[in-house]
Amino acid sequence: MLKIPFAKVSCKGNEFDYLKEVIESGWLTTAGKAQKFEELFAQKVGATYACAVNSCTAALHLGIEALGVKDGDKVFVPSMTFTASAEVVRYLGADPVFLDVEYGTSLLTPAILEAAIKKYPEVKYLVVVHFGGQSAEMTNDNQTGILDVCRKHGIKILEDAAHAFPASVKGQMVGSMGDITCFSFYANKTITTGEGGMLTTNDEALYKRVKVMRLHGINRDVWDRFTSDKPSWEYDVVAPGYKYNMPDVNAAIGLAQLEQAEIFREGRMAVAQYYYDHLADCDWLDLPVLKVAMSEHAWHLFPLVLNAQSRVSRNRFIELMAEAGIGTSVHYKPLFHMTYYKETYQLRAEDFPNAERTWQGTVSLPIFPGLSEEELDYIVKTIMRIQSSDE
Ligand SMILES: Cc1ncc(COP(=O)(O)O)c(C=O)c1O
Repeated sequence: MLKIPFAKVSCKGNEFDYLKEVIESGWLTTAGKAQKFEELFAQKVGATYACAVNSCTAALHLGIEALGVKDGDKVFVPSMTFTASAEVVRYLGADPVFLDVEYGTSLLTPAILEAAIKKYPEVKYLVVVHFGGQSAEMTNDNQTGILDVCRKHGIKILEDAAHAFPASVKGQMVGSMGDITCFSFYANKTITTGEGGMLTTNDEALYKRVKVMRLHGINRDVWDRFTSDKPSWEYDVVAPGYKYNMPDVNAAIGLAQLEQAEIFREGRMAVAQYYYDHLADCDWLDLPVLKVAMSEHAWHLFPLVLNAQSRVSRNRFIELMAEAGIGTSVHYKPLFHMTYYKETYQLRAEDFPNAERTWQGTVSLPIFPGLSEEELDYIVKTIMRIQSSDE
């Protein structure tokens, strides 16, 4: 029996060398490596500004604060996402207005958004999630993409791209399109810093606000305070900010991971292609629907849906895969099933039919660079065996 984890980090580049440099420098928190990481990341996604932070959740919090969301505001949030996309709305005393997603992609679509705007014309903010590594339809040839709809209605956009680096749609990189985009470098993400995140924007005013709020609302950053001729104690506090800066220890790993981002993406894409090629004829499962080119997808996840024709339930399927030594996961139990959101906003599954249908059968298969042909063959054969036996 093989043992295949759901996710596996690869640190075979310059991670140790860059970390050694940081440790030998005697300065472990935010400094040159974080600055360099920001510079190169901004370049890679084609954004004017990038701010390195200690998680994507921190980036989302800073982003939504900079966009001006405040107590009593309402913010559209897809229901098929991780809690971080919605919790940051609550941090500011605002309320999420949960939306259904498209079946097959788990993405928010321009049509779902248009319908929601008709129903809730007072909502002026949107969190959009680039689910699994595939960009939502931000732009299209008819100028009716999510960005166009938002512009038409004066809605500001926070992009949750925790899954989507590097990703693009029609040649435009995620991170260069909306008002603010937030990325995650958590341990299982497409590139990692252990814990970490990045916020990108093309808007100077938003960038300045994020930079100040990232470090206590202080008008000078740490590095500047300890390297410039001006005494380090000479600073002002202009707002009650947060403590969200990324230490150089993490940035060093991030720089090395960034260098390998395309190799990693190609490795994950090969895994996705294998699954498409070998699971295409299974009428008891629905494969993830592709709306962008294979090469524009970051392939963070490969979520299947076991449909009504499946002989086993999703939960039993996961148990049987685990018994065969194969790690899987579920993305996601929708937020309308989570006690806090369900009770606070009296949410009902029937108001989110696509998310609910997805949740009933969804299971994510292992996807990481370096999964061997032998391992992939084992995964596919195990799936076939589970489905054909009477367990
Ligand atoms: C869609 C989504 N948004 C936000 C986050 C939060 O990322 P982090 O753990 O870096 O705060 C995650 C983490 O898994 C996520 O999946």
